[in-house]
Amino acid sequence: MQAVTWQGKRNVQVETVPDPTIEQPTDAIVRITSTNICGSDLHLYETLGPFMDKGDILGHEPMGIVEEVGSEVSNLRAGDRVVVPFQISCGHCFMCSEHLYTQCETTQVRDHGTGAALFGFSTLYGQVPGGQAEYLRVPQAQFTHIKVPDGPPDERFVYLSDVLPTAWQAVAYADAPKDGTLAVLGLGPIGDMACRIALQRGVERVIGIDLVPERLERAQARGVEVIDLREHEKDLGAVVREMTSGRGPDAVIDAVGMEAHGSPLGKLAHQLTSLLPKKVAEQVMEKAGVDRMAALYSAIDMVRRGGTISIIGVYGGMADPLPMMTLFDKQIQLRMGQANVKRWVDDIFPLLTDDDVLGVESFATHRVPLTEAPEAYEMFQKKQDGAVKIVLKP
Ligand SMILES: NC(=O)c1ccc[n+]([C@@H]2O[C@H](COP(=O)([O-])OP(=O)(O)OC[C@H]3O[C@@H](n4cnc5c(N)ncnc54)[C@H](O)[C@@H]3O)[C@@H](O)[C@H]2O)c1
Ligand SMILES: [Zn+2]
Ligand SMILES: [Zn+2]
Repeated sequence: MQAVTWQGKRNVQVETVPDPTIEQPTDAIVRITSTNICGSDLHLYETLGPFMDKGDILGHEPMGIVEEVGSEVSNLRAGDRVVVPFQISCGHCFMCSEHLYTQCETTQVRDHGTGAALFGFSTLYGQVPGGQAEYLRVPQAQFTHIKVPDGPPDERFVYLSDVLPTAWQAVAYADAPKDGTLAVLGLGPIGDMACRIALQRGVERVIGIDLVPERLERAQARGVEVIDLREHEKDLGAVVREMTSGRGPDAVIDAVGMEAHGSPLGKLAHQLTSLLPKKVAEQVMEKAGVDRMAALYSAIDMVRRGGTISIIGVYGGMADPLPMMTLFDKQIQLRMGQANVKRWVDDIFPLLTDDDVLGVESFATHRVPLTEAPEAYEMFQKKQDGAVKIVLKP
């Protein structure tokens, strides 16, 4: 089959690799019909190289048709239409019973001390072959699937794999009051969808911040008050406070993560690790503060006293410096983590109707054949041609 493989920093290639087969009785094989590129894939493309091996298959936002199931997967059969969540979880361990599916105790990657295994996401998360491919082996398939009805187009449902539950969790954790204000840093797919969900759930004011014109326009068109970071890099906190009675928003979502614009020190750390031998770089990343922290620092600065910061952008440094005095003095609540996909699906599903209140069917800016993945990655990373969300079609 054809699959998108990691080959090095900013280098992905479509290669012919062996078709996956059932290896465990809890596996299923899914023929992929749509599979997205995510901002998280960009971290692998650029920064998390030390944790990747040449030939690793990328991708964690797929959907398709079940081809074959293992003997213990009694709730799926060939022909079922499924979305595959980005995390692999068993559905029956302690963490799964707490709905903390990204902490699943059956699939936790104990070698690295990390949570549940993820598709296509480096040795840190189990080095499981990903879903940017013609076929995908789904481990723990008895739980790691979301059945969807036949009929509507793939794009009605494909974002259940990641974008929708991730944005939903970001909003739920932010917990802004209905008559309050939520600020969202980063208007990529995750931040954009978080704004839509917050407005849909009745948050009165949503302020979106980014530095890419078409991303700002997309959010503004849906009722978000936007701030262009290029105009307010120095005084962002003051501008946001001015908009919110001098106090700051009740809650802030950081939908940017470790590669934020405007963090010279972190940028240097990223460049240095990319020059080190793989083993040493891995050690540095796991022991040092290497993240570009500008977005999180902005969140800490702008959130009102006693407010909540919901971090949904991914961070990877082990010793990132944080202004503990400000966090403590302002009495800020921090909530974060990978999204527990299936925790939110029942809340989201009723919104995925013909009315399309969240605009999922027009959410993608680009739909391209899987074979064009190398160009698509480059376009998405460089934010060329208005690319916000790209769906690959195997
Ligand atoms: N927690 C999870 O489960 C989960 C799931 C999916 C994605 N993510 C993470 O969410 C983040 C966003 O993902 P995405 O797909 O939207 O990616 P993206 O890279 O397209 O979006 C990031 C956006 O942030 C903007 N930005 C950069 N620096 C900024 C700053 N200092 N202030 C404000 N905006 C800034 C960029 O211009 C860009 O539009 C990534 O870190 C991704 O890894 C987390
Ligand atoms: Zn993703
Ligand atoms: Zn589990």
